[in-house]
Amino acid sequence: MSMNKETIVCGLDLGVYRLKACLARVDHVHAPEIVGISQVATRGIRKSSISDLQDVSDGINRILNGLKEKSKLDFKDVHIGLGGHFIQHRKTHAIIPLADKGNKVITTFDIKKINHQACLLGINLDEKLIHDFPVQYVVDGFNMAANPLGLHGRKLEANILIAVAQSNLINNVHKAVQQAGFDVKTVAFSSLRSADACLADDDKKRGCIFIDMGVEATSVLIFKEGVLKNLGILNYGSNQLTEEISRKLNLPFDLAEDIKRSYAMVLTGDDSAMIKGEILVKRDASYVTIDRQSVCQVVTPWAMTLVEKIHQLVRQADLEHHLCAGIFVVGGGALLSGLLESMEQKFSVPTKVAKIQIETKQLNNPAVYAGCIGLAVQRATDGLPVPFSQVYKQGSMLHKVTYRLKELYQEYF
Ligand SMILES: Nc1ncnc2c1ncn2[C@@H]1O[C@H](COP(=O)(O)OP(=O)(O)OP(=O)(O)O)[C@@H](O)[C@H]1O
Ligand SMILES: [Mg+2]
Repeated sequence: MSMNKETIVCGLDLGVYRLKACLARVDHVHAPEIVGISQVATRGIRKSSISDLQDVSDGINRILNGLKEKSKLDFKDVHIGLGGHFIQHRKTHAIIPLADKGNKVITTFDIKKINHQACLLGINLDEKLIHDFPVQYVVDGFNMAANPLGLHGRKLEANILIAVAQSNLINNVHKAVQQAGFDVKTVAFSSLRSADACLADDDKKRGCIFIDMGVEATSVLIFKEGVLKNLGILNYGSNQLTEEISRKLNLPFDLAEDIKRSYAMVLTGDDSAMIKGEILVKRDASYVTIDRQSVCQVVTPWAMTLVEKIHQLVRQADLEHHLCAGIFVVGGGALLSGLLESMEQKFSVPTKVAKIQIETKQLNNPAVYAGCIGLAVQRATDGLPVPFSQVYKQGSMLHKVTYRLKELYQEYF
């Protein structure tokens, strides 16, 4: 019997600016193959909510049926990714006794139990858990362990980072997808899936910052020792920069957006004198000129504030000097010229637009598609060692019983 069952997996990144979808052919033997990718302009999604269900569902219908037609492949289940502006995150903590008296060997069951309790304590009533990342365990109050499995102890503590979303939002997403004729298979944080698609395990081990710069928010993920150590979602997206240009130079928003893309540049030290010239723009019926340097003078302090905020997050995580693999950036905001150079200067580590780890054919802008690709080829490396979310995805009863028996065996022999 062949175990190599091929499946078609669809990832859909619900961005504020664009919906991005990817179809991948996945089996147990070969590397996943991308068989379709597409984007459409988003309508009906605002900052942190769905403002028009019909618009969103029409967009989903268009992008997914388009992929179906082009690829001639059929699918119904979709893995949804939500951007940082939809996600809240916090640290949570729990402590459990391991044995009535004496010591006990810590099993996966104990770890699952404490993860579960910490998550329950960290989630509010109107929220749904999206991811959990065990950051650290403490055995007997002093022994810090990334993975306590097999250690002896009397009590176990867990510090867990959780990412949650409003239940109403999740319900609305389900509704929009169903209305479009598809089913939601999973919901994930798209920046995390981007990171999974772009970072090698070695990057996560050596330490790196992964930045996803979207429309309304910038997500900052800090990895070290192979796990997500800290997560920051800054209320600071590429749209604010357009608004700033529009306000300070007194230009309509759309024009400010064009100028941002074509002429804006973050100036780093010496190159400030080099930016000269004027931009000719059409305004009403006539043309006006805008000094290019004045655009850069709006963009530079804005970008510096963003870089400073990212720096603060890294310092809070106490990882400033442990980011050997450098900084990786994705999302449309990463295309702002000079931004990566200013990050590189601030952090003194290599900074680049992230590359997707699996082979992709002729993608003109892979950094924008990283989220949907990650959703379609997910390797689900949410954390160590057993993410709480997986507790709900257990197998058959027989599997559970044999698993528990194995654990009891480990515990007593
Ligand atoms: N060349 C460019 N220079 C600067 N900014 C750009 C450029 N191209 C696109 N952007 C900005 O990138 C943003 C869109 O990024 P992206 O496609 O990653 O958003 P999204 O995934 O839809 O949003 P989100 O992740 O916030 O939901 C827009 O604000 C756009 O102005
Ligand atoms: Mg995005």
